[in-house]
Amino acid sequence: MPVPPTLLLVDPAHFAVSYTINPWMQPGEWARDPHGMRRAARRSFEALCAALQAAGCDLEVAPGTPGLPDMVFPANAAVVLDGRAIVARFHHPQRQGEEAHFLGIFEDLRERGVLTEVAQLPPGCFQEGAGDCIWDPVRGHFWGGYGPRSKREAIDEMAAFFGREIVPLELVSDRCYHLDVGFCPLSGGEILYFPPALSPAALQTLHQRVPPEQRIEASEDDLRHFSVNAVCAGRHIVMNRTTDHLRTALTQRGYTVSEVDLAPFVLSGGGAFCMTLRLNWSSA
Ligand code: ARG
Repeated sequence: MPVPPTLLLVDPAHFAVSYTINPWMQPGEWARDPHGMRRAARRSFEALCAALQAAGCDLEVAPGTPGLPDMVFPANAAVVLDGRAIVARFHHPQRQGEEAHFLGIFEDLRERGVLTEVAQLPPGCFQEGAGDCIWDPVRGHFWGGYGPRSKREAIDEMAAFFGREIVPLELVSDRCYHLDVGFCPLSGGEILYFPPALSPAALQTLHQRVPPEQRIEASEDDLRHFSVNAVCAGRHIVMNRTTDHLRTALTQRGYTVSEVDLAPFVLSGGGAFCMTLRLNWSSA
């Protein structure tokens, strides 16, 4: 029996789209009806929790903090493997205030025995958590995105901390500012990815490591639906409302696709994957 995923989420009470640090963010759209948007965000969040639980996940929901709207994306807060967490260093000043709050959340998880160790990167060594450092449970290594947010140097720091390989992938599209926007390893070994997100060298690395039958290319339309930013839990994949094309492709490969309307969070440039942080990946 595979271990059920334990996922950290952050309550959306303080979520808003109030600044622009990626090209998807639309503060103007949010400002037209902040109360309605907040209610919609709450409904989306609850639907996401229900879909994740139905997919067999255990959830830990931490509170957010006023003035830090993007805390609802805890994938950016840390990288966790074998109970050991290394807390993110955010690139943008708008998100740097999250570091101290997440440190508190992770220390609390350590005290409760969910984690065994909580470490920090050197100041200025920007790295935005599992959004840019994704564990591939089939291959037993991380895929590390760098460029727009996380720095290349951070990959070496993290690899030394975890003692595991992190395969560097340079990100070249501003819409795929985190690796998880355009890259998702699935439990069967397939990689769902949006090719224009990756530099030519990164594509070559991917092609060397992943055979053609395990590569699933996402289209422009799939990307716009935030469908690559998905949570894969065993044979279940939870994502924002997706395209007919991708739903069919994944279903034919034996996955059950569970779709949630995450529109309020897409307005901030986030989908299902970045609204979660898996706390119990194991390298064994
Ligand atoms: N507004 C957030 C930001 O730009 C969205 C983060 C989404 N996270 C992710 N891993 N894709 O930082």
